[in-house]
Amino acid sequence: MTEQNLNLINEVKRRRTFAIISHPDAGKTTLTEKFLLYGGAIREAGSVKSRRSQKHAVSDWMEIEKQRGISVASSVLQFEYDNFCINILDTPGHQDFSEDTYRTLMAADSAVMVIDSAKGVEAQTKKLFHVCKMRGIPIFTFINKMDRQGKDPFELLEDIENVLGIRSCPVNWPIGSGKEFKGVFNRHKNQVEVFDDGNHGQAIASCITGDPSDEKFTDLLGHDLHEKLLEDIELLDIAGDNFDLETILKGELTPVFFGSALTNFGVEPFLESFLDITTPPTARKSNLGEIDPTSDNFSGFIFKIQANMDKNHRDRIAFLRICSGEFEKGMTVNHVQRGKKIKLSQPQQFVAQDRVMIDKAYPGDIIGIHDPGIFNIGDTLSAKQSNLQYTGIPQFAPEHFMKVSTKNALKRKQFVKGVTQLSEEGAIQVFKQPNGGMEELIVGVVGVLQFEVLEYRLKQEYGVDVMMYPLPYAHLRWVENDLSKFGKLSMPMDTLLVEDKNRNPVVLFANEWSVRTLAERNEGLVLRETSL
Ligand code: G4P
Repeated sequence: MTEQNLNLINEVKRRRTFAIISHPDAGKTTLTEKFLLYGGAIREAGSVKSRRSQKHAVSDWMEIEKQRGISVASSVLQFEYDNFCINILDTPGHQDFSEDTYRTLMAADSAVMVIDSAKGVEAQTKKLFHVCKMRGIPIFTFINKMDRQGKDPFELLEDIENVLGIRSCPVNWPIGSGKEFKGVFNRHKNQVEVFDDGNHGQAIASCITGDPSDEKFTDLLGHDLHEKLLEDIELLDIAGDNFDLETILKGELTPVFFGSALTNFGVEPFLESFLDITTPPTARKSNLGEIDPTSDNFSGFIFKIQANMDKNHRDRIAFLRICSGEFEKGMTVNHVQRGKKIKLSQPQQFVAQDRVMIDKAYPGDIIGIHDPGIFNIGDTLSAKQSNLQYTGIPQFAPEHFMKVSTKNALKRKQFVKGVTQLSEEGAIQVFKQPNGGMEELIVGVVGVLQFEVLEYRLKQEYGVDVMMYPLPYAHLRWVENDLSKFGKLSMPMDTLLVEDKNRNPVVLFANEWSVRTLAERNEGLVLRETSL
């Protein structure tokens, strides 16, 4: 084995690439920041947060775009911890929620799901969870805000199982909650970890450890809490699911941790267990079979393209997830989908909060490549094999729909061109009624902000003013059957049959009831939430 191979194997082994999924306000930013703090990437908690508030304080999305340096830089964070090289992928929430948020999950090897202990599983978490589940990646649960009065921990586990349909196994168990949150019981080590509450928040929390039956804990926790803990431990042993690594790695069982990102309680034990249990980058599916990350062919796929809204800087950045081999600055690679060779001369990486030029990168890493408008989402780049293609990125069901047309009939051509371009970039999805023309299109998006992006970019880049009418649909399903053979569908009220850009049949629904009814009324009809 050559030295270069050994180096690649070592670099892959120490990589951990994951996304943090949560509903807004559950504590994703705070937790990320604490990870950075532990990794030594930032000296003081609060710096990520202040950038975030700065970003969200600006309500106009174009203003947000002007600060694109910030939003691009915070899309991927790389930092070191205990000889691990960690890549955290941001899954934008709030008004930034879009199909990109889902696509980012295609680049992650595992997910950390943050849940607010007072709220349980919330809507956005549920959506993001489903994408992770579909991919079969390991999902780790961090139940946050234990320093506040929340739901009963057993109830929270039930919530995860009932709402998300995944079994759970607590790796640690909280001792008290709210002001009485004293620490956790680490089931792996069979030890109590009582937090030393002298220094928390900005610095790393230290703790006192020992066997749960040790009498010192009666003093430290108080008689009642100690008794309750011993009872809980017994209950968990009988009622909870056992820790099973294989099931966890398949994404069928979620290890659960309790803590408080704000006060640092339980954050470092969580990070350590997570890094230990979850996998480094593994083989990825392609048309040539599974590609091992340690293969000597550099390859990867594009999962996100960020357009620059500033008219003077029309460049775009394509985000590439490296799947195999070593990346070197200036290398020439095959752009498989276009059948062309390209030189990657100015690759960028996102270290902590800054964009930096890089010389080398490894599987699991995300690099930003300047895109003069040649890339599409899902494209494969490969150094040696010019026919290698990673399994594509599906389109995800939009939830908001508008009828869109040009105000000026003479601008029809530009309108069609602009809309087509934006849909190829993955910013919007376009549908039309069977036999309908391109003058009046149905545009679907995952997050409503994309409508503003559409309107603005059509005006700025194509000189087209559009009219948009909201449509009452909120759900979409791709129909897997060949409808010419299936016959006429029996459609419930408030549903519409349309086709996507590849002329696949798609049904729009006003509510979930209609989705179920369509399936019930048409035996053998197969509906899918993604396009692949
Ligand atoms: P997000 O990225 O998931 O949207 O959440 P973020 O970390 O921004 O946290 C949302 C709010 O919850 C913040 O309060 C944050 O301080 C608080 N928070 C996060 N983790 C914990 C925790 O473990 N315990 C408690 N008690 N609160 C937590 P905010 O009032 O919105 O902002 P700020 O004024 O504190 O900056």
